[in-house]
Amino acid sequence: MSEKRYFNKNGERYVELISEEKIKQRVKELARQLSEDYKGKTPILMGVLNGAFIFLADLIREMTIDCEVDFVKISSYGGGRVSSGFIKSKKGFDSDVDGRHVIVVEDIADSGRSIKFLEKMFAGTKPASLKFVSLLLKEDNAVVDFELDYVGFNIPTEFVVGYGLDYDQKDRNLRSIYVLEE
Ligand code: IMP
Ligand code: MG
Repeated sequence: MSEKRYFNKNGERYVELISEEKIKQRVKELARQLSEDYKGKTPILMGVLNGAFIFLADLIREMTIDCEVDFVKISSYGGGRVSSGFIKSKKGFDSDVDGRHVIVVEDIADSGRSIKFLEKMFAGTKPASLKFVSLLLKEDNAVVDFELDYVGFNIPTEFVVGYGLDYDQKDRNLRSIYVLEE
């Protein structure tokens, strides 16, 4: 069993929002859906570093079709809990995406700026299809128009950590997803 509460070294309190079991179950469902939707195809799952590495790793292991993996790396957080709103590409994709089915795999969509930025990273390429999956969506916090094709969980506008998501680069290794209390 995963813990329901947790304190970090600075005494900040984390309250469990989504348990390890619930995440597992939802990731399985998403993988089943993707395996169905991409049957007979070999999509490239494009993980967005750093946050999506755990989600992507679990997702592909539940998929029952052939798939390839690649990564891009972007950053928007200067550190702490507040996004700078200014997104930088730290690493582009290596694969030739022309004619391929690309599924961008994100950990969380908040303002939507990262999703927009990622869309633009594929401008000038010709993928057969380009879809976006995000494990989490802060549904009330969008500041730009964006669309996700697959969403794991809608969550309230609160800072969350664990399962790949960090607080100052730490706590990505927590198995559940927690809200960091003010
Ligand atoms: P957006 O560009 O505002 O949609 O933010 C998306 C990116 O910010 C995500 O890919 C995360 O890396 C990061 N982020 C947004 N909200 C949180 C959070 O609650 N915890 C940790 N990282 C977050
Ligand atoms: Mg991210």
